Amino acid sequence: MPLINSVEIRYLIFCDKRFLRSAVKELAEEFPSLKIESTDPSGRFIVGSSKAAARPGELTFVESVIPVSIELDGMKYVNKEVLIALQEVIKSKDRFKIEALNLSSHSGANAKTIEVFLGQALEKQGLVADLDNPTVLVYVVLAGGKIFICKTDEKYVLDAFRANKFGKDEKISRAEFKLKEAVDYFGIDASGLKLALDIGAAPGGWSNYMAKQGAKVIAVDNAALAYEKLDMRRIVHIPKRAHDVDMESLKGLDIGILLMDMNIAPADSANLAIRFADILKKGAYLILTIKLVDFRIEKHIKDVEEILSKEYRGIRLKKLPHNRQELTLFAIKK
Ligand SMILES: C[S@@+](CC[C@H](N)C(=O)[O-])C[C@H]1O[C@@H](n2cnc3c(N)ncnc32)[C@H](O)[C@@H]1O
Repeated sequence: MPLINSVEIRYLIFCDKRFLRSAVKELAEEFPSLKIESTDPSGRFIVGSSKAAARPGELTFVESVIPVSIELDGMKYVNKEVLIALQEVIKSKDRFKIEALNLSSHSGANAKTIEVFLGQALEKQGLVADLDNPTVLVYVVLAGGKIFICKTDEKYVLDAFRANKFGKDEKISRAEFKLKEAVDYFGIDASGLKLALDIGAAPGGWSNYMAKQGAKVIAVDNAALAYEKLDMRRIVHIPKRAHDVDMESLKGLDIGILLMDMNIAPADSANLAIRFADILKKGAYLILTIKLVDFRIEKHIKDVEEILSKEYRGIRLKKLPHNRQELTLFAIKK
């Protein structure tokens, strides 16, 4: 007798090849029902399958687990079947955005060409595209002789395919995306934060992001900020190394978030976060980048968690799309 709920769902699991080993280990622990079927040679995604009901918990190294809605054989995206499949997953009330990824060595079309072609074809069918604020994101992935169509309504809309592409607004540095992704992923209401303390702030991407959200920022870095690009009415630069900051001058300020994106060893960053914890109020947020200076990833994570747990709770870690050899940590001041 066929079992109810025994339907296998296929998943595309996105990760970064620098963390592939950790991602596979994490999947075995957090998503044990997943059968890994193949790993793309680029190391950017894994195809797996599992029973419909199974879902992983929060994952650190895996960027995203996306159920495959429809899988087609072939590589031609200029194809009626692809359009029919897309019309099956996008409903008329949806505002859609298509993101394409072409890992097929046989077809040279770049992602943008595919997105524009499919987007326009769907609009002709009366569907509504919305690139800025879509209600549904559809991935079209060409790989290994197949076309995967995946629909996701994840709040965490990862632009993993565009990890190097800058957006429309001018950004001070790539780092600015990391903070935006962290704020979205960890669910921080950045517009509610009045004051941010940004340690290791130069050239000023994170400070810029916070200032644009309406916060005032104290930016600490012995290096210069990109002053001409920043709204310096909202940002005060303390041109010092973190250890040389006069802590007394920061006491009593209502700092809602401590930001640390320093290119130093993980335990050193964590120890600095402890030093600055003194001037934080209970409930203030911490966003800290863990630079994985070598491959002892698990050891670094353990050390950092041990150090931070003296002053912070709710520690969460995530490899965000714009993180390179690093992870982003979120915590809350005890
Ligand atoms: C990756 S950059 C930060 C990028 C920044 N988050 C942005 O968005 O533009 C690292 C910065 O940390 C600073 N840094 C490293 N050690 C520091 C320390 N002990 N005190 C203050 N800044 C430090 C460096 O000068 C450098 O500007």
